[in-house]
Amino acid sequence: MPVTRPLHRGRCFSLQSILLTSNGTLKDLLRGLGKHSHHKAPVKMLPTFVRATPDGTEKGDFLALDLGGTNFRVLHVRVEEEAQKVLKMDSQICAIPQEMMLGTGEQLFDHIATCLGDFLESQNLKGKTLPLGFTFSFPCEQLEIDKSILIRWTKGFNCSGVEGKDVVQLLKEAIHRRGDYDIGSVAMVNDTVGTMMSCGYRDQSCEIGMIIGTGTNACYMEEMKNVKRIEGEDGRMCINTEWGGFGDDGSLDDILTEFDVEVDKTSINPGVHIFEKMISGMYLGEIVRLVLVKITKDKLLFKGQISETLGTPGQFETKFISEIEDGLENAKKILTELGLDWDPVDACVVRLVCDTISSRSARLCAAALATLVNRIRNNRKLDHLKTTVGVDGTVYRKHPT
Ligand code: GLC
Repeated sequence: MPVTRPLHRGRCFSLQSILLTSNGTLKDLLRGLGKHSHHKAPVKMLPTFVRATPDGTEKGDFLALDLGGTNFRVLHVRVEEEAQKVLKMDSQICAIPQEMMLGTGEQLFDHIATCLGDFLESQNLKGKTLPLGFTFSFPCEQLEIDKSILIRWTKGFNCSGVEGKDVVQLLKEAIHRRGDYDIGSVAMVNDTVGTMMSCGYRDQSCEIGMIIGTGTNACYMEEMKNVKRIEGEDGRMCINTEWGGFGDDGSLDDILTEFDVEVDKTSINPGVHIFEKMISGMYLGEIVRLVLVKITKDKLLFKGQISETLGTPGQFETKFISEIEDGLENAKKILTELGLDWDPVDACVVRLVCDTISSRSARLCAAALATLVNRIRNNRKLDHLKTTVGVDGTVYRKHPT
């Protein structure tokens, strides 16, 4: 049983525990990079076969697919010669219904192929065979840039028949099943890698990509000589850390609260991606809800009355945290919508709870990010490193601070 502690601001998440996290992540990074230790490592440190960041001269006409959250995006991207660095983009969003996230892999990939087909039709691109960039934001053992085996689903997805399979192949098979269009060569990347590369296109000192969205993760440029699992000593390779898995061996148990333990227990993948469950959008709202329920049961909020909505798992959305922290008026509106009988002190307390949970998330990300920056600095034997971090994800974009 993990050790749980009450959620006291400044106590559990003191500098000391953050440093503990940072030291812990470093040890896990080294295990993930090792030739023999990586199988059991909680932080997977996956080679991506991306050997350099862009130099800004890249151009061409591409399709892009982006699968990783609740929506799926299809894009047509043109990087034109005369308008270098100016991207022209058309895109379409398709929802992935909850049943499909838990259905069969064939259904999921058929749906992706249909969305892509509809998009090509609407853009008059069906006759063209364009190269395709596939951002697939799940942990994959990449064998080549177009061969990538799904290790396991995360973030609420659990489609059967995909784990252990090459997802590029599954996509191609779904397109062939339709038979009405074709695609050119495929490059598959994790969203962290896509973020680092697109940021690097404009700023060549970008060597880290970080996502704080539905899930959380980061990638960075590692020296080839340290990537023991891949032949070759020269140059660098981007490593997809899959840092969401930090803590899966119990290393974070000392800083888990009873709310974290509950969120993990009721998730579809208990024991998996413990760090992610303390940080990312899929889970933050539920942590706040559990804290509010506890304080209400202790008769410290809402005159001790829990509304039906507050009492229902999943009903306190992560976007409420951003909105509540953005202003007290938002807080009051949301509490009313949640059917709660609040007074002005309640509204302030709820805001404080949101701030505590989102600040903890930010600090944990900062600790892990510091580990990567220090890693790059030490690799290069520098006293001081100036670098850029490309960041994306809904939590990062939407949170007011
Ligand atoms: C999850 C996935 C990871 C992805 C991250 C952010 O942690 O396992 O591959 O990068 O979410 O989307």
